[in-house]
Amino acid sequence: MTTRFDILTLLPDFFLSPLTQGVIGRAVTKGILEVGVHNIRDYTLDKHRTADDPPYGGGPGMVMKVEPIVRALEAIAKKGVEPPEGAQPLQGADGAKIILTSPCGIKFNHNAAKELAGLGRIVIICGRYEGVDERVMEFVDMELSIGDYVLTGGEIAALAVVDAVGRLMPGVLGDDDSSGHDSFTDGLLEYPQYTRPEVFRGMKVPPVLLSGNHAEIDSWRRAESIKHTCRRRPELLDAAPLTDAEKAVIESIKQG
Ligand code: ADE
Repeated sequence: MTTRFDILTLLPDFFLSPLTQGVIGRAVTKGILEVGVHNIRDYTLDKHRTADDPPYGGGPGMVMKVEPIVRALEAIAKKGVEPPEGAQPLQGADGAKIILTSPCGIKFNHNAAKELAGLGRIVIICGRYEGVDERVMEFVDMELSIGDYVLTGGEIAALAVVDAVGRLMPGVLGDDDSSGHDSFTDGLLEYPQYTRPEVFRGMKVPPVLLSGNHAEIDSWRRAESIKHTCRRRPELLDAAPLTDAEKAVIESIKQG
């Protein structure tokens, strides 16, 4: 299955380099992922190509206009949309999920990435930080935030979504780097990794990793994952499947 992302942005050049680089760049070249980048300004109606305007009611900054965004959505969905009043919104058109990036959205995480990776078509509207006309929400399935901080625009958030979702699509990662051992996959942070040299400035690789004993290596890694998670993101442990013995270890770490 090919997944297609369509990104609606005021800064199309922003995407030129990231989508040609690394794992995602390779997947795009191979046709496993398709990414269309659309300039919202191409869907404006006036000669100045106005895509934002001052907010009604006053206040600082500019607000992204509703018509160019909806016209862009219509064009990429190749499907007409009635005006919002009493009309069917474009939500779910062609099975597409329409996402607006926004610091006010629900927090994007590994589970959200997995859900999106099961879809064939994802449309991402990059909001600007000053705001987007609220009527755009009539056409949006989901508002996503990539964290509790404010970016100047949604482009970096859109790239984070394409990258995190794209790498979960079959065939995007090679077998060697499969996502099965990722942090979050089993509800825990990943265990620490080492590669050559065995000793760097007196710092040694843990001997168990050189032992060749895979059962011991697995259990060391599991224990390290639990310790890392306990120290850095203890809230994740509530939802992680753990044995009674592991829960006891966590309690002893928490006691200090
Ligand atoms: N736009 C501005 N800040 C953002 C954030 N944290 N996540 C998603 N989109 C944004």
